[in-house]
Amino acid sequence: MDSAYWYRILGYTMEFFYVLSVVFFILGMKWMSHPSTARKGNFTAALGMCLAMVATIFSEGMGNYGWIASGLMVGTGVGWWLSAKVKMTEMPQMVSLLNGFGGAAAMLIVVAEAIGLADGGVLLDLNAERNNGMAGGYVNSIAKIPEIFYHSLLMLNLVAGAVSFTGSMIAMGKLQGFVPGGSVRWPAQRFTNNGLLLLMLLGMIVYFQSGHWQFAIILGLCLAGLLFGVLFVMPIGGADMPVVISLLNSITGLTSALTGIIFDNQTMVMGGVLVGASGLLLTILMCKAMNRSLGAVLLGAFQSGGVTASDRAIDTTIRETSLNDAAVLMAYARRVAIIPGYGLAVAQAQHAVHELELLLESRGVEVIYGIHPVAGRMPGHMNVLLAESDVSYDKLLEMERINPEFPKIDVVLVIGANDVVNPAAERDPASPIYGMPILQVDRAAAVLVVKRSMNAGYAGIENELFYDPKTRMLFGDAKGVLQKLNSALKEV
Ligand code: TAP
Repeated sequence: MDSAYWYRILGYTMEFFYVLSVVFFILGMKWMSHPSTARKGNFTAALGMCLAMVATIFSEGMGNYGWIASGLMVGTGVGWWLSAKVKMTEMPQMVSLLNGFGGAAAMLIVVAEAIGLADGGVLLDLNAERNNGMAGGYVNSIAKIPEIFYHSLLMLNLVAGAVSFTGSMIAMGKLQGFVPGGSVRWPAQRFTNNGLLLLMLLGMIVYFQSGHWQFAIILGLCLAGLLFGVLFVMPIGGADMPVVISLLNSITGLTSALTGIIFDNQTMVMGGVLVGASGLLLTILMCKAMNRSLGAVLLGAFQSGGVTASDRAIDTTIRETSLNDAAVLMAYARRVAIIPGYGLAVAQAQHAVHELELLLESRGVEVIYGIHPVAGRMPGHMNVLLAESDVSYDKLLEMERINPEFPKIDVVLVIGANDVVNPAAERDPASPIYGMPILQVDRAAAVLVVKRSMNAGYAGIENELFYDPKTRMLFGDAKGVLQKLNSALKEV
């Protein structure tokens, strides 16, 4: 059999790999939607990505294997190192960083084509493409696409990739603390942002008329997109950052899908559409969980403020309790609800909290957990954390399920949670979190709160729950307090 035969077999195999990778992406996403199958889902999606990479590397017309191998080695090494080093609480930053790289890749593809243009070529020579059925070394059916549509895709890819890149970097910087975390505003901010958007649109229109100015316009659009990413994310602060990251993720999905069309790679289109759609759905779900519109989030309307407890002339006495008293209170309760928050994650207190649950249950106390959809710093943060310490999923009650239960609960133990239990979200129309659904822990008979100080949570606002006459504070690091509480419980 001649080499052409084997090439054909290789081609079919790679096509099969592509189809299989899409199936794996879809299965992976489905399994990732439940904590019990999430690990399997993650592995399956990663396997799908490996297959897609193999299929691309061995597809017809590929070359530069030295460069590809070096890129793979560097990427795998850095990815491995990051995944081992990054703490669970830093995961949103990591997602943002990786998302930014996706945007940068899409942008660089168009810039690389533009460099060829500056060398005297034409942007992806469509005439050659039409004659040969190939362009730039990859098999492509873009000859069937009208030229204007194809060039529009390139421009959109460039701008969306650039916005996603710098936007994600700023979002990461805000969460990591090297860019000011709050809402950064400047005079005529909306005018600047809208003006820049308009300018980019004009640039795209001029691009089609411009002939030999195309290279300069591409670079101009690229710089404008990079600047817009910065200006778009800077005014957004506080608790809205995960929504922005998810939205940028969906923009990167869009750029992947566009790149897939440009390179005539159906798997890339499918993968991009999956990321784009799921990112958008997650954005909408998070906005719903905070009861805020996407527009309000993007305009950076979430700022610190609201009426403080002293403004409302309420009693601001802080009532502390001892570990022994807290242990007795829980030991003789019938039902205890545990509310985990960001502080539990920082303190890595998930194993101590599970031990507390087992100790209470051994005394006949019923224990449940209340999970707020945006508790912690990433979607599903609390579920992942508690799964790590083998807490049963049946005991994790979503907000809608646990809220009606609170009047029938004897003791609520709030551990490192603040915004998600702040009654101001329901009572104070001036509060920046007003309207965000919360866990209504103040409806229980008694509330114990574990935190280190009276400091605010992510939204930077005061919490009247801590002054409620039925609340008792247990100050200290969540892990240390829980360990001591467990010891005290064994003595009761
Ligand atoms: P937060 O409101 O951020 O409050 C966490 C509390 O934990 C703080 O008040 C802090 O008080 C305490 N804490 C920190 N370290 C601690 C430790 N080692 N031991 C004990 N306590 C500790 O948390 P939350 O109630 O989980 O609400 C989450 C917030 O983050 C919401 O505003 C949400 O919108 C936002 N957000 C959510 C996400 C997602 S998608 N989940 C992503 C980003 C932001 P002390 O300093 O006094 O200890």
